[in-house]
Amino acid sequence: MSCQAVAVDTAPGFDPRQFRNALGQFATGVTVVTAPDGEGGYVGVTASSFNSVSVDPPLILWSIDNGSRSRQAFEQAEYFAVNILAADQVDLSKHFARQQDDKFVDVEFKLDDNGVPMLRGCSAWFHCRTRHLYAGGDHTIIVGEVVHFDSRSRDGLLFHQGRYAVSGVHPVDARNR
Ligand SMILES: Cc1cc2nc3c(=O)[nH]c(=O)nc-3n(C[C@H](O)[C@H](O)[C@H](O)COP(=O)(O)O)c2cc1C
Repeated sequence: MSCQAVAVDTAPGFDPRQFRNALGQFATGVTVVTAPDGEGGYVGVTASSFNSVSVDPPLILWSIDNGSRSRQAFEQAEYFAVNILAADQVDLSKHFARQQDDKFVDVEFKLDDNGVPMLRGCSAWFHCRTRHLYAGGDHTIIVGEVVHFDSRSRDGLLFHQGRYAVSGVHPVDARNR
């Protein structure tokens, strides 16, 4: 696996803040992606860039900021996990979005068969094998093959317009129940 940075010119007048605000109109879930750090510890990053890619083979992706302290560990990890946060896990999201040396102190987790931390209380877990790394501007896109997954029926944590949110059934669907 390897990836190369590609420089892309932005149009004159392109406003990064407005761009971010426009992207924030797209509501996402919130995940914490975890992996061994290769030195006996673990890395974990709050990420909303998670998405499904393919069912056969089962592939997912997420992207990591090239300035992230954990980037190298994720690029070198053979296995990683995507922990899908439940609505009551805002504190966990904030915790893994903060840079600190050992984010796993005082966090409840267990290790899967590949030594990857699985966080307690999530709504789903995807155990993945790293398949591809792609350069994506100031981020690196990581594609994983799902080797195992598990889920619980729990309300998910959402992120929309730069704020945490919870989901509700749209009135159109509520009428059809
Ligand atoms: C809701 C939310 C979503 C985020 N999504 C991403 C993401 O998809 N990719 C990313 O690299 N950082 C994302 N971040 C920022 C990282 O969680 C944050 O920069 C973290 O401190 C990186 O950890 P590290 O530098 O210790 O590796 C997000 C933060 C929040 C609060």
